[in-house]
Amino acid sequence: MEETLQNLIVGQSEAKGSTFGTAPTRNEFYTNYPYFKYWKSDFNTHLTDPEGLIIYIHIPFCVQICDYCFYMREVLKSPKQMSEYIDTLCEEIKLVSNRFNLLHRKVDAIYIGGGTPSLLKEKQFFRIVDTLHKYHQIKDPEFTVEAEPGTFSFKKIEWYKQGGVTRISMGVQSFDDEIIRLSHRKHTGEMALKAVNMVKDVGFYSNIDLLSGLAGESMDTWRKSVDTAIQSGVSMLTIYRMINYSNTTFFDKSVRKDQLALPSDQQEVEFMTHAVQKVQNSGYDSWSSYMFVKDNYKHTYTEKSSRGHDHIAYGASSFGKFGNVVYQNSNIVKLYKEKVANGEVPISRSYALSAKDEMIREILLCTKLFSYTSDEFEVKYGFNYIDLIKDAVVKLEREDYIAIGERGIELTQKGTVFGDYVGMALASSLKNTLALDNISFTY
Ligand SMILES: C[S@@+](CC[C@H](N)C(=O)[O-])C[C@H]1O[C@@H](n2cnc3c(N)ncnc32)[C@H](O)[C@@H]1O
Ligand code: SF4
Repeated sequence: MEETLQNLIVGQSEAKGSTFGTAPTRNEFYTNYPYFKYWKSDFNTHLTDPEGLIIYIHIPFCVQICDYCFYMREVLKSPKQMSEYIDTLCEEIKLVSNRFNLLHRKVDAIYIGGGTPSLLKEKQFFRIVDTLHKYHQIKDPEFTVEAEPGTFSFKKIEWYKQGGVTRISMGVQSFDDEIIRLSHRKHTGEMALKAVNMVKDVGFYSNIDLLSGLAGESMDTWRKSVDTAIQSGVSMLTIYRMINYSNTTFFDKSVRKDQLALPSDQQEVEFMTHAVQKVQNSGYDSWSSYMFVKDNYKHTYTEKSSRGHDHIAYGASSFGKFGNVVYQNSNIVKLYKEKVANGEVPISRSYALSAKDEMIREILLCTKLFSYTSDEFEVKYGFNYIDLIKDAVVKLEREDYIAIGERGIELTQKGTVFGDYVGMALASSLKNTLALDNISFTY
C-alpha cells in the first residue's frame, strides 16, 4: 500500500518535475532515486544472498630472512612464539567476526600467507581452521596456504587436505642453487622441485612463485628456472618482478653500501619478456600481467581482492578492505597482541575511498587481470571510462601496450611485461579527467 502511494507521488513528480531553468513548483516530493518504476527484481539476491568475503591470514615467522624479502617477517626463535601468536590470531578472528557481524557471510577464498605458514605445526594449523569454521561461513572455499620448500613435507599435505586446503603456493624464486644461495635461502632447487611435485601428485592446485631480477641472475640461469617451472606442470605460475625495497638486505648492499650489483632494469625486462613468451608458448594462458595458468584455472582470491570485494585481514601487518574502507593491522607483533588482548580490533591505519578513488583503484588493479572487461566498469560505475581517456588509450595502443578487443582494453605481450605501468597510465589519466571539477584527489 505504502509503495503504491510512493509510486503515485513519485510518478507524478516525474511527470511534472522541474528541471533547471523552468519555473519552480511545490508539486514535488522526492524520497528516493531513481523512480520506483525503474526498480526491478534483478538485484533482490544481492540483499538475500550477499557477495562472499575473502580472508587473508598473516603468519609472520620464517626460518631465514631472505635478502630480497620486504614482507613483515621475523625469524622464529621458539615454538612458544608461534603458539602465542596463534592464540592472538584466533582471538582476533572471534573479535572481528563478532564486531563486523560476519558469521553468516559466505567465504569465497581463504589465503594463509606470510612469512612462512608451512612452519605451522599440526595443532596450530587445525586451531586456525577450527576457529575459522566457528566464526565464519566456510563451505568449500578456495583455500591457499603459502609454503617454503625447506619447511614442507608430505605429512603437512595430509593435514592440509583434512583442513580443506585446495591450493598450495610454493615460494621457489629460482631453481638455480647459486641464485638461491645468493638470496640466503636454505633450500636447494631440487628440494623445491620435490616439494612442488608432492603438491601436484596429491591433486592440489599448485602455484610456483618465481622472482625476476634476483642477484646473480643471468639469462642462462633464468631460462633454467622458467623451463623447470613450466615442466613441473603446475596449475599456475606467478612471476614477480623483484622490487628492491628499502627494508631488505639487497637494498642495503646494493644502494646503501654499493657492494652488490643487481641485474639492470633492462636485463630484468629481458628476463620477463623471455618468461612471458616462453610460458605462453608452453600451454599457459596469461591470467594477469604476472600470473599464468593452465587449463583455465581461476584464482578466486586475487580476482576478488583486485575487484575490491570485502577482504578481511587477520594477523599482524595484514591489510584488507571492508565496504569502501581499506585498512591495515598493526605491523608490530607486540602492539598487535596488546590490542587484541585489550579486546580492540587491531587496526592501525585506514583510508575511506571516495567513489572516485574506488574507480581509480579498480582501473589500477583490474587492468592487469585478463578476466576483466570494460563492461564490468560500466555496470558498476555507470559510464564507459575508455571514452573519457581517449588520448591515453590511443597512445598506449600505438605503442603496442594494449589492444582494444572484445573485453575492451586488453594487454598485449609487451603490455603484460609492463602491466603495472599500463594500469597506472590508464588510472592517472582517468584521475586527471575526474579531477577537472577541481574536487581533487588526496592522492
Ligand atoms: C612473502 S613470500 C612467502 C613465501 C614463502 N615464505 C617462501 O619464501 O617460500 C611470498 C612471495 O613474495 C615474493 N616476494 C618476496 N619479496 C619480494 C620482493 N622484494 N619483490 C617482489 N616479490 C617479492 C616472493 O616471490 C615470495 O614467494
Ligand atoms: S621470502 Fe618467504 S622465507 Fe624468505 S623472508 Fe620472505 S617470507 Fe620469509
